[in-house]
Amino acid sequence: MRVIVEKTPEAASQRAARYVASLVREKPICVLGLATGGTPLKLYGELIRMHQEEGLDFSRTTSFNLDEYVGLPPTHEQSYRYFMQHNLFDKINIDVRNTHVPDGRALDFDKYCEHYEQMIVDNGGIDLQILGIGTDGHIAFNEPGSSLGSRTRLKTLAPETVKDNARFFGGEKLVPRLAVTMGVGTILESKKCALLAFGENKAEAIALAVEGPVTAQVTASALQMHREVHVFLDEGSAAHLARREYYDEVEKAHQMLETGKLSWTDD
Ligand code: F6R
Repeated sequence: MRVIVEKTPEAASQRAARYVASLVREKPICVLGLATGGTPLKLYGELIRMHQEEGLDFSRTTSFNLDEYVGLPPTHEQSYRYFMQHNLFDKINIDVRNTHVPDGRALDFDKYCEHYEQMIVDNGGIDLQILGIGTDGHIAFNEPGSSLGSRTRLKTLAPETVKDNARFFGGEKLVPRLAVTMGVGTILESKKCALLAFGENKAEAIALAVEGPVTAQVTASALQMHREVHVFLDEGSAAHLARREYYDEVEKAHQMLETGKLSWTDD
């Protein structure tokens, strides 16, 4: 895992956006895995800016979203399809036919989830999966106890997630209790992952995910098994990391390599 800590959520989001943009530029026919929620909003804002001001071209990009609430139509303001249209797809030049958000109203979920997985495979797999993290350590809606080999399926939201997401629905009672979600196993098959987290309320989950044992009780910890994960944090979400100084050293070393400077001393 490469742990990148920036001073603010804005700076970390810009850094993450540059990471996404470099993939889109290098491999225009790429497959992005996308997340919703509060965390990626600034990243999406920066990608929109890069599209508008720098001509970042998404015309050949395909996308697969992590999850969707069961029972919400795409027109519902809290559905993840609506979120994606409003916060990204409508503002860049991605072909909407190449965007995929799980259908929360599928009649046969077993069949539908298998179909969603197959579509990912048919498109060559996900090149870069963007992830947020829940305060209970979840990625997508893989709540504590989810199998680390799980595939796309229905999942019941944990009480902590219901509480966290009540802010979007105007009360806990209105939050759907079920979601269709990619599994941990599905996410681990992505070629690269970018995990973003901001604010002190994510600090504990981030410390457990990055430095704790790999456990189904913190499904983000499964990313320790992945070969290429970038973790983009602000100071708040990095506050409980025990090896923070080391991550900063690693960043310095990367910057030196990127600028061709190979000596540790100043001269
Ligand atoms: C959303 C998703 C979730 C969120 C997580 C954090 O598609 O998969 O795992 O990333 O719940 O949510 P926010 O960003 O709202 O704190």
